[in-house]
Order: sequence, then structure tokens, then C-alpha cells
Amino acid sequence: MSGETGPEGRGKVVPELREVGPEAAELLASLHHAAFSGHEPWDMTAFGQILAMPGVVAWLASVSWAGKALPVGFIVSRHVVDEGEILSLGVHPRWRRCGVARRLLAHLVRQAEQAGDTLFLEVRVSNRAAAGLYETLGFRQVAMRPRYYDDGEDARLLRWSPG
Ligand SMILES: CC(C)(COP(=O)(O)OP(=O)(O)OC[C@H]1O[C@@H](n2cnc3c(N)ncnc32)[C@H](O)[C@@H]1OP(=O)(O)O)[C@@H](O)C(=O)NCCC(=O)NCCS
Repeated sequence: MSGETGPEGRGKVVPELREVGPEAAELLASLHHAAFSGHEPWDMTAFGQILAMPGVVAWLASVSWAGKALPVGFIVSRHVVDEGEILSLGVHPRWRRCGVARRLLAHLVRQAEQAGDTLFLEVRVSNRAAAGLYETLGFRQVAMRPRYYDDGEDARLLRWSPG
């Protein structure tokens, strides 16, 4: 089970990335639950449905730990024509600040660059950790979405454009 152990200190890791489909729904649901502390619940059924949708792509990040590949993070995006929307990104709390999310997002950005795609995502105004990550990879705010979330919090709409 991911998260019962963790890295000593705050060293960066180089996770391996693997593209996954609906067969990984249970694993992604469990990582999502850990990453979002059970808020914004995407359970196994929801992941199964999302991962089966046309244009949806999911990448799983694993680190080598105690001789095993330990899943620690994921990113899910949906691509239509020349636009991609990042639907979810999460890293297990025990593996944060190790560079896992940066590696996942940089991978998606590199692919978008090659395809000439623009990327979008919504992020809670209170989510400073995610905002820092997105900004360092070139995402910029293009709009606000008032009361976007179920609890009434606003979202910032961020965009990354190629070139
Ligand atoms: C946001 C999240 C995905 C970051 O994952 P992570 O693997 O810890 O991020 P990284 O280690 O790759 O950090 C990349 C950069 O993001 C920023 N960052 C990450 N965590 C941060 C924090 N707690 N405070 C401030 N900046 C932070 C920093 O700029 C960091 O670079 P640095 O470590 O070189 O300073 C993770 O905290 C998470 O899963 N949060 C809950 C789910 C969530 O909010 N998802 C995003 C929804 S839009």
C-alpha cells in the first residue's frame, strides 16, 4: 500500500511514469483519496468511467522503494483537438516536495509542446502548493471561476500555451 513508508528527509526522487487506463481505476482512486484527504471524491467507479472516456489520458508515477515500484502520484487529462484539460493531479502526502508532481506535469507539458496543444486547468484559490508548481512550469491565470467548487470556493483558470 503506498504511503506506509516514505523518503528520509526531503530529497528529490526521479519517479518512473507509466500510462494507465481503466484497469488502474482502483489504484488511482486510492491515491486520489490519500492526496485529497477524501475531499472531492473520485471513487473507483468514477475513475473507471473517466479513464474510459475518449481523449482521457492518465499517467502514474512510481518510485523504487524497498525493492518495489511504489505508486505515489498521478495526473489525468482530457484532450480534444488542440486543447488539453488537466482533470486531476495528486501526490501521496508522504511523497510530497520530492519532485513527483513536477515530473508528471513537465511530462504532460512536453507532450503538449510537441503536439502544439494548449493546456488548461482549474485550481482552488487557496491552493498555494499547486499554484507554485503551475507557475514555475509556465501556467498563467486567464480567468476566475466564482464558487466553482461544491464548498463555494472560487477557482482560478490557468492556461499553458506552446511556444
Ligand atoms: C500540489 C501537489 C500535487 C504537489 O505535489 P508535489 O509532488 O509535492 O510537488 P513537487 O515536489 O513536484 O513540487 C514542485 C513545486 O511545487 C511547489 N510546491 C509544492 N508543494 C508546495 C508547498 N507545500 N508549498 C509551496 N509550494 C509548493 C514548489 O514550487 C515546488 O518546487 P520546489 O520543491 O522546488 O520548491 C501535492 O501537494 C498534492 O497532491 N496536493 C493535494 C492535491 C492537489 O492540490 N492537487 C492539485 C489540484 S489543482
